[in-house]
Amino acid sequence: MSIKTKTERLTELKAKSRLGGGQARIDAQHKKGRLTARERLDMLLDKGSFREVDAFVVHRTHDFGLDEQKFTGDSVVTGWGTVEGRLVYVYSQDFTVFGGSLGEVHAEKICKIMDMAMKNGAPVIGLNDSGGARIQEGVVALAGYSDIFLRNTLASGVIPQISAIMGPCAGGAVYSPALTDFIFMTRKTSYMFVTGPDVVKAVTHEDVTQEELGGASVHSEKSGVCHFAAESEADTLYLIRKLLGYLPQNNMEDPPFVAGDDPLRMEEALNSIVPDDPNKPYDVKDAIQMIVDSGSFFEIHENYAPNVVVGFARLGGHSIGIVANQPAVLAGVLDIDASEKAARFVRFCDSFNIPIVTFEDVPGFLPGTYQEHHGVIRSGAKLLYAYCEATVPKLTVITRKAYGGAYCVMSSKHIRSDANFAWPTAEIAVMGPDGAVSIIFRKELDAAEDPVQKKAELVADYKEKFANPYVAAQRGYIDDVIEPKETRPRLINALEMLSNKRDANPAKKHGNIPL
Ligand code: HXC
Repeated sequence: MSIKTKTERLTELKAKSRLGGGQARIDAQHKKGRLTARERLDMLLDKGSFREVDAFVVHRTHDFGLDEQKFTGDSVVTGWGTVEGRLVYVYSQDFTVFGGSLGEVHAEKICKIMDMAMKNGAPVIGLNDSGGARIQEGVVALAGYSDIFLRNTLASGVIPQISAIMGPCAGGAVYSPALTDFIFMTRKTSYMFVTGPDVVKAVTHEDVTQEELGGASVHSEKSGVCHFAAESEADTLYLIRKLLGYLPQNNMEDPPFVAGDDPLRMEEALNSIVPDDPNKPYDVKDAIQMIVDSGSFFEIHENYAPNVVVGFARLGGHSIGIVANQPAVLAGVLDIDASEKAARFVRFCDSFNIPIVTFEDVPGFLPGTYQEHHGVIRSGAKLLYAYCEATVPKLTVITRKAYGGAYCVMSSKHIRSDANFAWPTAEIAVMGPDGAVSIIFRKELDAAEDPVQKKAELVADYKEKFANPYVAAQRGYIDDVIEPKETRPRLINALEMLSNKRDANPAKKHGNIPL
């Protein structure tokens, strides 16, 4: 065979591989409103940066007539490329080949790039669009999933792992994304569930659509399984690029520094953001936007447990993770979902050397039988554990209420927070004035001629004593009481002061976070 013929063969094979399951299936994919595996990679990665591996791989199955159907490259496209010039490893399942189903070689291709990502310390991004385990391959397909699950787990906390659900993701297949750090979904065209509508109907007699069972809205608002619900595939891929900008390549690196905003900028409007009435809400996101580098706040899990806000931002160019109670939703109370949302985020930041800035305005944990019966004790302990365990720089600003156990949990000085500030509006106490007076002065109130007047007096006394930051500041539990307008420069200064922080946990195999 001449060189020319050999080169022609290569070209022909590559073209075949690029066509996946063929033009008719590509057209069908487009008709469903979905892009192909390769179109997605083109959109995700820097132009021309994608380098494919294993484009010639074919499956080795003989049963069920599969011998006659061999697609060059099988049902997943894998390789590496760059995002804003930084290396990432990628896999993109190709629904046009056997419905993107995962068999032996599909799994091997994914495992290969995951192993490369671990060795070379770069993020892995998986674009999922698959009918699940390739039915014709039986247990070999299940083994392939297991190989991936193991790698997801071993890579956790070493390299960032990002999953996008761009079509179906059903059955045990959901557990690979679930083991990764962030899940993106596309509205209307993606869904995730362990058991599909048919099984649900057979077992529970419930009649639900795929969308109702596990669409992007369900997982971004109710279950919290997904962190981002994007309007389109293009949006999904754009958001992944954006997220990567805040993250280091691996756990041995610091996140990228991106200068851009005046570190000494003061914000006069912060001085009046907390209303005079302690029961009136304000939107903590307004405060965050004023404090962080202009336009840098990137919220995560926006629609799930909105009584706590988490997200990335930059302060003086440094990447930070923000955890903030949200007084505008349920008065910023901590409940099961909010505690778990914040705990997982704190642990991510700690794994990847991202300092944590906490804004605190919390009246406590949500009371009630639902919360108690569903384990608010365990969930609150998760958040407490996550904060206690974290060794990255931790900064806290108490803007208003810091009541009860929530004071301890929300990055207090006692659990190794490094720099704790309070605004003059801070109220640090075991509980709110009303509840406190009712308990400790019950006898006096019962005996009073005018209990309402008496209570008002006692509440005023209590407020005078406790509804301020100075008792805590006298003991050094607060490092400084600052004017709200100076929050940005003070936080940036503290962050830089902590830039060489070294702290460690006792040697152990691993802790036992209350899961
Ligand atoms: C082999 C599969 C497949 C699978 C789809 N296909 N899923 N082939 N194994 N799991 C094939 C179809 O036969 C079809 O081939 C092509 O892919 C496109 O599928 P369609 O059904 O035409 O597409 P659509 O109508 O869009 O429906 C997509 C779908 C449906 C909802 C995903 O295909 C489906 O329900 N598939 C089975 C899902 C499933 O039960 N998977 C196993 C889950 S359990 P042709 O040649 O006809 O076009 C699991 C366990 C994992 O995954 C455990 C890990 C621990």
